[in-house]
Amino acid sequence: LSTTELDISKIEPGQAVKASFRKQPLFVRNLTPAEIAAADAVDVGSLRDPQTLEERTKAGKKNWLITLGVCTHLGCVPLGAGEGENKGPFGGYFCPCHGSAYDTAGRIRQGPAPTNLHVPDYTFNSDTVVTVG
Ligand code: FES
Repeated sequence: LSTTELDISKIEPGQAVKASFRKQPLFVRNLTPAEIAAADAVDVGSLRDPQTLEERTKAGKKNWLITLGVCTHLGCVPLGAGEGENKGPFGGYFCPCHGSAYDTAGRIRQGPAPTNLHVPDYTFNSDTVVTVG
């Protein structure tokens, strides 16, 4: 299976970009300290798909949230990365198809999606280059 190499050096804090991985949209987001704090403030036990931000990011790189840009309900592309800056009521991503709202860790918080946005396998080659897959 193919891998995708990404240069993340130009992604500013607070910015999310849309890339692609194996023909699917991929969201790469540089979380601000406030967005990290918002994710950490959530009672994980109350979540539909309980995961901490740590579990969804790499050690020491908690600001880099890398997920598929594919709603886990029926596969629409949520808004909030690149064009269509509608981050939804939980500040992460918002799926306009049936109203699933994801938080700043890409976790499902409202609407019909059953699980969090999928985190693919990836590794940091350096501080600015990531290989996905
Ligand atoms: Fe996203 Fe249905 S496909 S809410």
